[in-house]
Amino acid sequence: MSVSNQTATTFVIVLIGPPGAGKGTQCEQLAATLKIPHISTGHLLREYAGRSSGVGQQVKNFIDAGNLVPDSLVMNVLEERTRRRDCDAGFILDGFPRTYAQAKLLQMTLLSSWKAFDLRVLQLIVPKPILLARLSSRLICPVCGTGYNATTKPPLRNRMCDLDGQALITRDDDLASTVLERLRIYEEQVPALINYYRQCGVLTDVDGNRTVREIAADFLRALSLHPPLDLEKTAAQPAHFGSQTEDESR
Ligand code: AP5
Ligand code: MG
Repeated sequence: MSVSNQTATTFVIVLIGPPGAGKGTQCEQLAATLKIPHISTGHLLREYAGRSSGVGQQVKNFIDAGNLVPDSLVMNVLEERTRRRDCDAGFILDGFPRTYAQAKLLQMTLLSSWKAFDLRVLQLIVPKPILLARLSSRLICPVCGTGYNATTKPPLRNRMCDLDGQALITRDDDLASTVLERLRIYEEQVPALINYYRQCGVLTDVDGNRTVREIAADFLRALSLHPPLDLEKTAAQPAHFGSQTEDESR
């Protein structure tokens, strides 16, 4: 991967948390507030899985089984996304890294691609029964990726995306048995990952079992940024997933 020609410090925020912890929800807020992209490897990989290629089908099989997609493929989609110009000032990683090995790969990528970067890691902590309840009622927009919840964040119109009017769907991997497998893998992998970032001195734990707004304010405090007066207003536009034009690519 080539070294970027940008010179200022790049702000890299990593959000770690189990399935249903609210990573996507908080990243939407944070991306809108900080005006840097939200990069969800889960979303990028689901796009990949939607392709009719053989590799697309393989990725879909991994996701639908609740397994991790191989690192080589995840790194390809991640590096393709972070090479775009809109990442020069910074970006928020949602769902990457998930293992100690991926954390080391990220570190190598950052060192080789950015002249200076400021890495912060936030860990969302949520009890398992709450995670299961959230995932059993989650809805998403298949086009823009905006997340909803039939119980805690219903769309304005019945099962339609507030932003683009698309019919909302449930994720294939939110099947109860798949959720349990995703949680099992998370619990298996996260101790080494957390231990690594704690030793690096970049990790902050955040109680994710509160309102979206309270957690968002805590994130800004953890990042030493002042909470804006009205976080709700800043959440209107999803700055995530955005497909950039060729002109914006590096
Ligand atoms: P990914 O899409 O990243 O899934 P995940 O990590 O399992 O997390 P979720 O997206 O399910 O939950 P979330 O924390 O984003 O919660 P959300 O904000 O939606 O990955 C999917 C798959 O892709 C993986 O299993 C793997 O196969 C593959 N993959 C991805 N990254 C990979 C990698 N690095 N390496 C290898 N494979 C990879 O919230 C959940 C619900 O709760 C929503 O309905 C929301 O409205 C609601 N909610 C959120 N916050 C609150 C709150 N505070 N109060 C009440 N309700 C809330
Ligand atoms: Mg998510």
